[in-house]
Amino acid sequence: MSVLLVEDDMSIAIVITAALEAEGFNVTHCDSVAMRDRLLADGPFSVLVTDVMLTDGDGIEGLPAIRDQFPQMPIIVLSAQNTLDTAVRATDTGAFEYFPKPFDIDELARTVRQAAVSSGGTIDALEEAPTPGLPLVGRSAPMQAVYRMITRVLRNDLTVLVLGESGTGKELVAEAIHQLGHRSSGPFVAVNTAAIPAELIESELFGHEKGAFTGAVARHIGKFEQANGGTLFLDEIGDMPMQAQTRLLRALQSGTVRRVGGRDEVKVDVRIIAATNKDLEPMIAAGTFREDLYYRLNVVPIQMPPLRERADDIEALARHFLQLAAGEGLPRHQLSADAAAFLGRQPWRGNVRELRNFIYRAALLARDDVIDAATLETLLVNQPREGGQGAQVSLDDSVVLWLADAAPAPGQVYDEALAAFERPLFAEVLRSTGGNQLRAAQVLGINRNTLRKRISELGIDPDSFARRS
Ligand SMILES: Nc1ncnc2c1ncn2[C@@H]1O[C@H](COP(=O)(O)OP(=O)(O)OP(=O)(O)O)[C@@H](O)[C@H]1O
Ligand SMILES: [Mg+2]
Repeated sequence: MSVLLVEDDMSIAIVITAALEAEGFNVTHCDSVAMRDRLLADGPFSVLVTDVMLTDGDGIEGLPAIRDQFPQMPIIVLSAQNTLDTAVRATDTGAFEYFPKPFDIDELARTVRQAAVSSGGTIDALEEAPTPGLPLVGRSAPMQAVYRMITRVLRNDLTVLVLGESGTGKELVAEAIHQLGHRSSGPFVAVNTAAIPAELIESELFGHEKGAFTGAVARHIGKFEQANGGTLFLDEIGDMPMQAQTRLLRALQSGTVRRVGGRDEVKVDVRIIAATNKDLEPMIAAGTFREDLYYRLNVVPIQMPPLRERADDIEALARHFLQLAAGEGLPRHQLSADAAAFLGRQPWRGNVRELRNFIYRAALLARDDVIDAATLETLLVNQPREGGQGAQVSLDDSVVLWLADAAPAPGQVYDEALAAFERPLFAEVLRSTGGNQLRAAQVLGINRNTLRKRISELGIDPDSFARRS
Protein backbone atom coordinates (compact mmCIF):
# COMPACT_ATOMS: atom_id res chain seq x y z
CA MET A 1 0.00 0.00 0.00
CA SER A 2 1.37 3.34 -1.02
CA VAL A 3 1.47 6.74 0.62
CA LEU A 4 2.37 10.00 -1.08
CA LEU A 5 3.83 12.35 1.52
CA VAL A 6 4.07 16.02 0.55
CA GLU A 7 6.18 17.74 3.19
CA ASP A 8 8.99 20.28 2.81
CA ASP A 9 10.35 20.01 6.34
CA MET A 10 12.86 17.19 5.95
CA SER A 11 13.10 16.33 9.62
CA ILE A 12 9.34 15.87 9.88
CA ALA A 13 9.30 13.96 6.58
CA ILE A 14 11.90 11.51 7.90
CA VAL A 15 10.03 10.81 11.12
CA ILE A 16 6.73 10.30 9.30
CA THR A 17 8.32 8.11 6.63
CA ALA A 18 9.92 5.92 9.30
CA ALA A 19 6.65 5.52 11.18
CA LEU A 20 4.68 4.68 8.04
CA GLU A 21 7.31 2.28 6.75
CA ALA A 22 7.23 0.51 10.08
CA GLU A 23 3.51 0.04 9.44
CA GLY A 24 4.37 -1.62 6.16
CA PHE A 25 3.55 1.27 3.82
CA ASN A 26 5.52 2.14 0.77
CA VAL A 27 6.18 5.87 1.13
CA THR A 28 6.92 8.27 -1.73
CA HIS A 29 8.02 11.68 -0.52
CA CYS A 30 8.11 15.01 -2.33
CA ASP A 31 8.39 18.58 -1.10
CA SER A 32 6.40 20.70 -3.53
CA VAL A 33 2.98 21.14 -5.12
CA ALA A 34 4.52 20.81 -8.57
CA MET A 35 6.16 17.50 -7.75
CA ARG A 36 2.95 16.25 -6.11
CA ASP A 37 0.98 16.92 -9.26
CA ARG A 38 3.60 15.27 -11.43
CA LEU A 39 3.52 12.11 -9.25
CA LEU A 40 -0.28 12.02 -9.23
CA ALA A 41 -0.34 12.29 -13.01
CA ASP A 42 0.75 8.62 -12.98
CA GLY A 43 -2.24 7.61 -10.87
CA PRO A 44 -3.48 7.66 -7.29
CA PHE A 45 -1.75 6.42 -4.13
CA SER A 46 -3.55 4.55 -1.35
CA VAL A 47 -3.36 7.69 0.80
CA LEU A 48 -2.17 11.27 0.29
CA VAL A 49 -0.61 13.02 3.31
CA THR A 50 0.14 16.68 2.72
CA ASP A 51 1.50 19.74 4.48
CA VAL A 52 -0.16 23.13 3.85
CA MET A 53 2.61 25.69 3.50
CA LEU A 54 4.90 24.39 0.78
CA THR A 55 7.82 26.11 -0.91
CA ASP A 56 5.92 26.65 -4.15
CA GLY A 57 2.43 27.21 -2.85
CA ASP A 58 -0.50 26.22 -0.72
CA GLY A 59 -0.94 22.47 -0.27
CA ILE A 60 -4.70 22.78 0.22
CA GLU A 61 -5.57 24.76 -2.89
CA GLY A 62 -5.28 21.94 -5.40
CA LEU A 63 -6.95 19.35 -3.19
CA PRO A 64 -10.57 19.68 -4.43
CA ALA A 65 -9.36 18.97 -7.97
CA ILE A 66 -7.36 15.99 -6.77
CA ARG A 67 -10.37 14.71 -4.89
CA ASP A 68 -12.55 14.98 -7.99
CA GLN A 69 -9.97 13.07 -9.98
CA PHE A 70 -9.35 10.34 -7.35
CA PRO A 71 -12.41 10.23 -5.09
CA GLN A 72 -11.20 6.93 -3.54
CA MET A 73 -7.90 8.36 -2.29
CA PRO A 74 -8.13 9.59 1.33
CA ILE A 75 -6.35 12.87 1.99
CA ILE A 76 -4.74 13.74 5.32
CA VAL A 77 -3.67 17.33 5.94
CA LEU A 78 -0.84 18.32 8.27
CA SER A 79 -0.31 21.89 9.26
CA ALA A 80 1.82 24.13 11.44
CA GLN A 81 -0.88 26.80 11.07
CA ASN A 82 -3.08 25.81 13.92
CA THR A 83 -5.64 28.32 12.89
CA LEU A 84 -9.29 27.67 12.55
CA ASP A 85 -8.99 28.87 9.00
CA THR A 86 -6.71 26.05 7.81
CA ALA A 87 -8.73 23.52 9.76
CA VAL A 88 -11.91 24.67 8.04
CA ARG A 89 -10.28 24.83 4.61
CA ALA A 90 -8.85 21.34 5.09
CA THR A 91 -12.20 19.95 6.09
CA ASP A 92 -13.93 21.75 3.22
CA THR A 93 -11.78 19.86 0.75
CA GLY A 94 -13.13 16.65 2.20
CA ALA A 95 -9.85 15.77 3.88
CA PHE A 96 -10.09 12.50 5.73
CA GLU A 97 -8.39 14.04 8.75
CA TYR A 98 -6.65 17.23 9.74
CA PHE A 99 -3.54 17.19 11.95
CA PRO A 100 -2.29 20.38 13.53
CA LYS A 101 1.46 20.32 14.24
CA PRO A 102 3.00 19.16 16.47
CA PHE A 103 1.02 15.98 16.26
CA ASP A 104 1.45 12.52 17.64
CA ILE A 105 3.20 10.33 15.06
CA ASP A 106 1.50 7.32 16.51
CA GLU A 107 -1.89 8.82 15.90
CA LEU A 108 -0.98 9.88 12.38
CA ALA A 109 0.25 6.37 11.51
CA ARG A 110 -2.97 4.92 12.91
CA THR A 111 -5.06 7.34 10.89
CA VAL A 112 -3.19 6.64 7.66
CA ARG A 113 -3.74 2.95 8.26
CA GLN A 114 -7.44 3.46 8.88
CA ALA A 115 -7.71 5.64 5.83
CA ALA A 116 -5.95 3.06 3.67
CA VAL A 117 -8.21 0.30 4.93
CA SER A 118 -11.34 2.39 4.47
CA SER A 119 -10.41 3.05 0.86
CA GLY A 120 -10.23 -0.63 0.08
CA GLY A 121 -6.85 -1.84 1.27
CA THR A 122 -6.70 -4.83 3.54
CA ILE A 123 -5.02 -5.19 6.89
CA ASP A 124 -3.57 -8.53 5.85
CA ALA A 125 -1.56 -6.88 3.14
CA LEU A 126 -0.12 -4.59 5.75
CA GLU A 127 0.80 -7.30 8.15
CA GLU A 128 2.56 -9.37 5.57
CA ALA A 129 4.55 -6.45 4.28
CA PRO A 130 8.20 -6.55 5.30
CA THR A 131 9.34 -3.75 7.57
CA PRO A 132 12.09 -1.97 5.69
CA GLY A 133 13.57 1.38 6.61
CA LEU A 134 14.37 2.42 10.13
CA PRO A 135 15.63 -0.30 12.44
CA LEU A 136 14.18 1.41 15.51
CA VAL A 137 10.85 -0.01 16.55
CA GLY A 138 8.50 1.63 19.04
CA ARG A 139 6.32 4.71 18.93
CA SER A 140 5.82 5.47 22.62
CA ALA A 141 6.11 9.09 23.71
CA PRO A 142 9.67 8.62 25.09
CA MET A 143 10.78 7.09 21.77
CA GLN A 144 9.24 9.95 19.83
CA ALA A 145 11.38 12.31 21.88
CA VAL A 146 14.38 10.23 20.79
CA TYR A 147 13.31 10.40 17.12
CA ARG A 148 12.94 14.15 17.35
CA MET A 149 16.48 14.44 18.70
CA ILE A 150 17.73 12.20 15.90
CA THR A 151 16.16 14.41 13.26
CA ARG A 152 17.90 17.45 14.73
CA VAL A 153 21.37 16.07 14.12
CA LEU A 154 20.95 14.61 10.62
CA ARG A 155 21.93 17.70 8.67
CA ASN A 156 24.88 18.73 10.81
CA ASP A 157 28.00 17.18 12.30
CA LEU A 158 27.36 17.98 15.95
CA THR A 159 28.83 15.44 18.34
CA VAL A 160 26.19 13.21 19.86
CA LEU A 161 26.38 11.43 23.22
CA VAL A 162 23.91 8.57 23.53
CA LEU A 163 23.19 7.68 27.14
CA GLY A 164 21.12 4.93 28.67
CA GLU A 165 21.09 1.58 30.36
CA SER A 166 22.51 -1.49 28.73
CA GLY A 167 20.35 -2.89 25.94
CA THR A 168 18.24 0.22 25.35
CA GLY A 169 19.29 0.63 21.72
CA LYS A 170 22.17 3.11 21.91
CA GLU A 171 24.05 1.46 19.09
CA LEU A 172 20.96 1.35 16.89
CA VAL A 173 20.51 5.09 17.38
CA ALA A 174 24.09 5.70 16.29
CA GLU A 175 23.49 3.59 13.18
CA ALA A 176 20.23 5.38 12.43
CA ILE A 177 21.87 8.80 12.65
CA HIS A 178 24.49 7.66 10.22
CA GLN A 179 22.10 5.98 7.77
CA LEU A 180 19.60 8.82 7.69
CA GLY A 181 22.12 11.62 7.88
CA HIS A 182 24.07 13.42 5.22
CA ARG A 183 27.13 11.21 5.73
CA SER A 184 25.35 7.98 4.83
CA SER A 185 27.49 7.46 1.74
CA GLY A 186 30.60 7.46 3.96
CA PRO A 187 31.73 4.65 6.27
CA PHE A 188 30.23 3.88 9.69
CA VAL A 189 32.99 2.64 11.95
CA ALA A 190 32.23 1.40 15.46
CA VAL A 191 34.83 0.97 18.18
CA ASN A 192 34.01 -0.63 21.49
CA THR A 193 36.55 0.96 23.78
CA ALA A 194 35.72 -1.48 26.59
CA ALA A 195 36.61 -4.52 24.48
CA ILE A 196 40.12 -3.40 23.55
CA PRO A 197 43.04 -3.99 25.96
CA ALA A 198 44.14 -0.63 27.41
CA GLU A 199 47.56 -0.76 25.78
CA LEU A 200 46.07 -1.22 22.31
CA ILE A 201 43.39 1.47 22.38
CA GLU A 202 45.53 4.22 20.98
CA SER A 203 46.79 2.07 18.17
CA GLU A 204 43.20 0.96 17.41
CA LEU A 205 41.91 4.52 17.31
CA PHE A 206 44.81 6.34 15.73
CA GLY A 207 46.73 3.56 13.98
CA HIS A 208 50.41 2.87 14.21
CA GLU A 209 53.50 2.93 12.04
CA LYS A 210 55.45 -0.21 11.30
CA GLY A 211 57.80 -0.96 14.19
CA ALA A 212 56.10 1.48 16.59
CA PHE A 213 56.09 -1.23 19.25
CA THR A 214 56.83 -4.94 19.56
CA GLY A 215 54.34 -6.70 17.34
CA ALA A 216 53.71 -3.71 15.09
CA VAL A 217 54.87 -5.62 12.04
CA ALA A 218 53.09 -3.42 9.53
CA ARG A 219 51.57 0.02 9.36
CA HIS A 220 48.04 0.01 10.75
CA ILE A 221 45.34 2.52 9.86
CA GLY A 222 43.29 3.40 12.92
CA LYS A 223 39.52 3.74 13.26
CA PHE A 224 39.62 7.54 12.96
CA GLU A 225 41.21 7.33 9.55
CA GLN A 226 38.97 4.41 8.53
CA ALA A 227 35.94 6.54 9.35
CA ASN A 228 37.13 9.47 7.25
CA GLY A 229 34.17 11.08 5.48
CA GLY A 230 31.73 9.14 7.63
CA THR A 231 30.83 8.49 11.24
CA LEU A 232 32.96 7.16 14.09
CA PHE A 233 30.94 5.49 16.84
CA LEU A 234 32.85 5.40 20.13
CA ASP A 235 30.97 2.85 22.18
CA GLU A 236 31.34 2.32 25.95
CA ILE A 237 33.20 5.60 26.21
CA GLY A 238 32.94 5.46 30.02
CA ASP A 239 35.35 2.52 30.03
CA MET A 240 38.13 4.30 28.24
CA PRO A 241 41.42 4.50 30.16
CA MET A 242 42.61 7.98 31.16
CA GLN A 243 45.58 8.13 28.84
CA ALA A 244 43.47 7.25 25.83
CA GLN A 245 40.93 9.90 26.91
CA THR A 246 43.67 12.51 26.73
CA ARG A 247 44.70 11.43 23.24
CA LEU A 248 41.08 11.31 22.14
CA LEU A 249 40.43 14.82 23.38
CA ARG A 250 43.46 16.09 21.51
CA ALA A 251 42.25 14.43 18.30
CA LEU A 252 38.77 15.92 18.69
CA GLN A 253 40.14 19.39 19.33
CA SER A 254 42.58 19.40 16.44
CA GLY A 255 40.62 17.35 13.92
CA THR A 256 43.85 15.47 13.25
CA VAL A 257 45.36 12.23 14.44
CA ARG A 258 48.90 11.03 14.79
CA ARG A 259 49.60 7.32 14.35
CA VAL A 260 51.44 5.71 17.25
CA GLY A 261 55.13 5.99 16.41
CA GLY A 262 54.38 8.41 13.61
CA ARG A 263 55.36 12.02 13.16
CA ASP A 264 52.76 13.44 10.81
CA GLU A 265 49.42 14.82 11.83
CA VAL A 266 46.77 13.33 9.52
CA LYS A 267 43.68 15.40 8.95
CA VAL A 268 40.42 13.51 9.45
CA ASP A 269 36.84 14.45 8.74
CA VAL A 270 34.58 12.39 11.00
CA ARG A 271 31.28 12.81 12.78
CA ILE A 272 31.59 11.52 16.33
CA ILE A 273 28.83 9.65 18.12
CA ALA A 274 29.73 8.37 21.58
CA ALA A 275 27.74 6.12 23.86
CA THR A 276 27.91 4.84 27.40
CA ASN A 277 25.76 3.09 29.96
CA LYS A 278 27.83 4.68 32.74
CA ASP A 279 26.86 7.74 34.67
CA LEU A 280 29.74 10.00 33.68
CA GLU A 281 29.23 12.81 36.16
CA PRO A 282 30.24 10.84 39.28
CA MET A 283 33.19 9.52 37.27
CA ILE A 284 34.26 13.09 36.58
CA ALA A 285 33.99 13.86 40.29
CA ALA A 286 36.05 10.75 41.06
CA GLY A 287 38.67 11.76 38.51
CA THR A 288 38.22 8.74 36.24
CA PHE A 289 36.64 10.61 33.34
CA ARG A 290 38.01 13.86 31.93
CA GLU A 291 35.62 16.72 32.38
CA ASP A 292 36.85 18.54 29.26
CA LEU A 293 36.30 15.40 27.18
CA TYR A 294 32.82 15.09 28.61
CA TYR A 295 31.89 18.59 27.45
CA ARG A 296 33.42 17.90 24.03
CA LEU A 297 31.27 14.82 23.60
CA ASN A 298 28.09 15.95 25.30
CA VAL A 299 27.08 18.49 22.64
CA VAL A 300 23.79 16.81 21.83
CA PRO A 301 22.84 14.26 24.49
CA ILE A 302 20.26 11.62 23.56
CA GLN A 303 18.91 9.79 26.57
CA MET A 304 17.52 6.33 25.81
CA PRO A 305 14.52 5.48 27.97
CA PRO A 306 14.58 2.10 29.70
CA LEU A 307 12.05 -0.38 28.34
CA ARG A 308 10.10 -0.48 31.61
CA GLU A 309 9.21 3.18 31.02
CA ARG A 310 7.73 2.48 27.62
CA ALA A 311 5.59 -0.58 28.05
CA ASP A 312 3.62 0.67 25.01
CA ASP A 313 6.48 -0.46 22.80
CA ILE A 314 6.83 -3.98 24.11
CA GLU A 315 4.23 -5.63 21.91
CA ALA A 316 5.52 -4.04 18.71
CA LEU A 317 9.08 -4.99 19.65
CA ALA A 318 8.10 -8.57 20.46
CA ARG A 319 6.35 -9.00 17.09
CA HIS A 320 9.32 -7.39 15.37
CA PHE A 321 11.72 -9.86 16.99
CA LEU A 322 9.49 -12.81 16.10
CA GLN A 323 9.71 -11.66 12.50
CA LEU A 324 13.47 -11.24 12.69
CA ALA A 325 13.80 -14.70 14.26
CA ALA A 326 11.77 -16.22 11.44
CA GLY A 327 13.98 -14.38 8.96
CA GLU A 328 16.97 -16.05 10.58
CA GLY A 329 15.52 -19.50 10.13
CA LEU A 330 13.77 -20.06 13.48
CA PRO A 331 10.18 -21.37 13.39
CA ARG A 332 7.58 -18.71 12.56
CA HIS A 333 5.16 -17.84 15.40
CA GLN A 334 2.38 -15.43 16.22
CA LEU A 335 1.89 -13.74 19.56
CA SER A 336 -1.47 -13.93 21.31
CA ALA A 337 -2.95 -10.85 22.96
CA ASP A 338 -2.52 -12.28 26.46
CA ALA A 339 1.12 -13.07 25.65
CA ALA A 340 1.66 -9.44 24.71
CA ALA A 341 0.03 -8.34 27.95
CA PHE A 342 2.23 -10.77 29.89
CA LEU A 343 5.36 -9.32 28.28
CA GLY A 344 4.19 -5.84 29.23
CA ARG A 345 4.16 -6.83 32.90
CA GLN A 346 7.79 -8.02 33.07
CA PRO A 347 10.49 -5.75 34.53
CA TRP A 348 12.98 -6.11 31.61
CA ARG A 349 16.02 -5.10 33.57
CA GLY A 350 18.10 -5.99 30.52
CA ASN A 351 15.86 -3.77 28.39
CA VAL A 352 15.31 -4.41 24.67
CA ARG A 353 18.22 -6.85 24.51
CA GLU A 354 16.67 -9.02 27.20
CA LEU A 355 13.29 -8.91 25.47
CA ARG A 356 14.92 -9.79 22.19
CA ASN A 357 16.77 -12.79 23.63
CA PHE A 358 13.65 -13.97 25.37
CA ILE A 359 11.59 -13.77 22.18
CA TYR A 360 14.26 -15.67 20.25
CA ARG A 361 14.20 -18.37 22.90
CA ALA A 362 10.43 -18.47 22.67
CA ALA A 363 10.57 -18.72 18.87
CA LEU A 364 12.98 -21.58 19.18
CA LEU A 365 11.28 -23.53 21.92
CA ALA A 366 7.53 -22.86 21.60
CA ARG A 367 5.67 -25.82 20.13
CA ASP A 368 2.49 -24.11 18.97
CA ASP A 369 2.17 -21.60 16.17
CA VAL A 370 0.58 -19.09 18.47
CA ILE A 371 2.63 -18.24 21.53
CA ASP A 372 0.40 -17.51 24.49
CA ALA A 373 1.01 -16.20 28.00
CA ALA A 374 1.21 -19.67 29.56
CA THR A 375 4.01 -20.69 27.17
CA LEU A 376 5.93 -17.52 27.95
CA GLU A 377 5.49 -18.01 31.65
CA THR A 378 6.97 -21.51 31.47
CA LEU A 379 9.88 -20.24 29.42
CA LEU A 380 10.52 -17.40 31.84
CA VAL A 381 10.56 -19.73 34.82
CA ASN A 382 12.93 -22.12 33.06
CA GLN A 383 15.14 -19.34 31.77
CA PRO A 384 18.78 -20.28 32.31
CA ARG A 385 20.25 -17.79 34.74
CA GLU A 386 23.89 -16.85 34.95
CA GLY A 387 25.66 -20.00 36.21
CA GLY A 388 22.38 -21.92 36.34
CA GLN A 389 21.09 -24.88 34.42
CA GLY A 390 19.88 -24.42 30.88
CA ALA A 391 19.13 -28.09 30.59
CA GLN A 392 16.46 -27.85 27.93
CA VAL A 393 18.58 -25.87 25.48
CA SER A 394 20.88 -27.96 23.33
CA LEU A 395 24.34 -26.79 22.35
CA ASP A 396 23.11 -26.37 18.77
CA ASP A 397 20.34 -24.08 19.96
CA SER A 398 22.76 -22.19 22.17
CA VAL A 399 24.94 -21.44 19.18
CA VAL A 400 21.97 -20.07 17.24
CA LEU A 401 20.91 -17.92 20.19
CA TRP A 402 24.45 -16.75 20.82
CA LEU A 403 24.93 -15.72 17.19
CA ALA A 404 21.71 -13.74 17.25
CA ASP A 405 22.57 -12.01 20.49
CA ALA A 406 26.32 -11.43 20.33
CA ALA A 407 26.22 -10.51 16.62
CA PRO A 408 30.00 -10.90 16.29
CA ALA A 409 31.69 -8.70 13.70
CA PRO A 410 32.38 -10.23 10.27
CA GLY A 411 35.84 -11.76 10.25
CA GLN A 412 35.71 -12.42 14.00
CA VAL A 413 32.84 -14.89 14.20
CA TYR A 414 35.00 -17.96 14.68
CA ASP A 415 37.34 -16.42 17.27
CA GLU A 416 34.49 -14.96 19.26
CA ALA A 417 32.47 -18.16 19.10
CA LEU A 418 35.48 -20.12 20.29
CA ALA A 419 36.00 -17.73 23.19
CA ALA A 420 32.30 -17.88 24.08
CA PHE A 421 32.52 -21.67 24.11
CA GLU A 422 35.83 -21.97 25.93
CA ARG A 423 35.04 -19.55 28.72
CA PRO A 424 32.26 -21.60 30.40
CA LEU A 425 34.00 -24.86 29.50
CA PHE A 426 37.29 -23.94 31.16
CA ALA A 427 35.50 -22.36 34.10
CA GLU A 428 33.48 -25.51 34.67
CA VAL A 429 36.47 -27.82 34.49
CA LEU A 430 38.58 -25.53 36.69
CA ARG A 431 35.76 -25.48 39.20
CA SER A 432 35.77 -29.28 39.25
CA THR A 433 39.53 -29.37 39.86
CA GLY A 434 39.43 -26.64 42.49
CA GLY A 435 41.46 -24.32 40.27
CA ASN A 436 44.22 -26.87 39.61
CA GLN A 437 45.35 -26.10 36.06
CA LEU A 438 47.44 -29.21 35.58
CA ARG A 439 44.51 -31.45 36.44
CA ALA A 440 42.16 -29.32 34.37
CA ALA A 441 44.43 -29.69 31.35
CA GLN A 442 44.46 -33.46 31.87
CA VAL A 443 40.68 -33.60 32.12
CA LEU A 444 40.34 -31.52 28.97
CA GLY A 445 43.00 -33.51 27.20
CA ILE A 446 44.97 -30.47 26.11
CA ASN A 447 48.47 -29.27 26.75
CA ARG A 448 48.74 -27.38 30.02
CA ASN A 449 50.64 -24.48 28.42
CA THR A 450 47.85 -24.16 25.89
CA LEU A 451 45.34 -24.02 28.72
CA ARG A 452 47.39 -21.49 30.66
CA LYS A 453 47.75 -19.27 27.59
CA ARG A 454 44.06 -19.45 26.72
CA ILE A 455 42.73 -18.75 30.20
CA SER A 456 44.97 -15.73 30.45
CA GLU A 457 43.75 -14.50 27.03
CA LEU A 458 40.17 -15.08 28.10
CA GLY A 459 40.74 -13.22 31.34
CA ILE A 460 39.82 -16.22 33.52
CA ASP A 461 41.37 -16.14 36.99
CA PRO A 462 42.13 -19.77 37.96
CA ASP A 463 42.63 -18.76 41.60
CA SER A 464 38.99 -17.83 41.86
CA PHE A 465 38.20 -21.56 41.61
CA ALA A 466 40.61 -22.57 44.36
CA ARG A 467 38.85 -24.51 47.09
CA ARG A 468 38.97 -22.82 50.43
CA SER A 469 39.41 -25.18 53.33
N1 LIG B 1 13.94 0.38 19.44
C1 LIG B 1 14.43 -0.79 19.03
N2 LIG B 1 13.88 -1.44 17.99
C2 LIG B 1 14.37 -2.62 17.58
N3 LIG B 1 15.39 -3.25 18.13
C3 LIG B 1 16.00 -2.67 19.18
C4 LIG B 1 15.55 -1.40 19.68
N4 LIG B 1 16.33 -1.06 20.71
C5 LIG B 1 17.21 -2.04 20.87
N5 LIG B 1 17.04 -3.02 19.94
C6 LIG B 1 17.80 -4.27 19.84
O1 LIG B 1 18.19 -4.64 21.15
C7 LIG B 1 19.53 -5.07 21.19
C8 LIG B 1 20.34 -4.14 22.08
O2 LIG B 1 20.45 -2.86 21.45
P1 LIG B 1 21.84 -2.06 21.42
O3 LIG B 1 22.99 -2.98 21.19
O4 LIG B 1 21.70 -0.92 20.49
O5 LIG B 1 21.85 -1.58 22.95
P2 LIG B 1 22.91 -0.69 23.73
O6 LIG B 1 22.13 0.40 24.37
O7 LIG B 1 24.02 -0.31 22.81
O8 LIG B 1 23.40 -1.69 24.87
P3 LIG B 1 24.83 -1.78 25.63
O9 LIG B 1 24.93 -0.59 26.55
O10 LIG B 1 24.75 -3.06 26.38
O11 LIG B 1 25.89 -1.76 24.58
C9 LIG B 1 20.00 -5.11 19.77
O12 LIG B 1 19.78 -6.40 19.27
C10 LIG B 1 19.11 -4.12 19.06
O13 LIG B 1 18.97 -4.43 17.72
MG1 LIG C 1 26.00 -0.85 22.85
